[in-house]
Amino acid sequence: MTEEEQKLSPKQRSRRNFLGQSLFTAGAAIAAPSLLNSCQNKTVSASNALVEGETMIGLKINGQLKTLNIEPRVTLLDALRENLGLTGSKKGCDHGQCGACTVLIDGQRAYSCLTLAIMQEGNEITTIEGLATEDNLHPVQTAFLENDGFQCGYCTPGQICASVALLEEVNNGSVSYVTRDLTNPPELASLSESEIKERMSGNLCRCSAYNGIVAAVQQAAGQTPPSPAASIEHSQVG
Ligand code: FES
Ligand code: FES
Repeated sequence: MTEEEQKLSPKQRSRRNFLGQSLFTAGAAIAAPSLLNSCQNKTVSASNALVEGETMIGLKINGQLKTLNIEPRVTLLDALRENLGLTGSKKGCDHGQCGACTVLIDGQRAYSCLTLAIMQEGNEITTIEGLATEDNLHPVQTAFLENDGFQCGYCTPGQICASVALLEEVNNGSVSYVTRDLTNPPELASLSESEIKERMSGNLCRCSAYNGIVAAVQQAAGQTPPSPAASIEHSQVG
């Protein structure tokens, strides 16, 4: 208590305390909204703000432009899965060895674990989530379903994206390591089993659903695939 307060009567002190407390409460009430606003502003700007080391990039994914703040060292696969919630592309090896992360970049297949997201600004990226329309599966997805082209399904998004690219490559007259006549590239209707196996060799399947995968590609290519039972028999004989 100050000297001045000691000179006051108890009644005067009590009044002074009351006024002081009232002013504090009123001040707090006035200050509260502005404090809240300033906290909210900080939260909003913090979520949009670049953290040190990050840069803002725009990626065209499945027909939509997505803006994200990431470090330049982030791979496309991690950007898809961790930043954009597109978890269809799988992380198998993270070293370009299994194909589980395969996506399409400008229509060509690519391992998304081997490219940096920042390098893909301006390119059209298609992931497994972008293949089907609202009402219909992509024909390759249908073919995988109808030919048991998977078991656990972990490699399947990559297998399907690779198959979509494979069909386009054959359509464009590309040859492979097993094409016998390089001047006469195979067509979809005549694409052999060994061509399909070679062209899909960048995508591993730990469940070994390879017969179904080959049959699915054959169906998507417009061929009549062997029944799954027939392909199992064929592989056992072979
Ligand atoms: S996760 Fe990319 S190749 Fe295996
Ligand atoms: S279906 Fe299981 S890894 Fe291919």
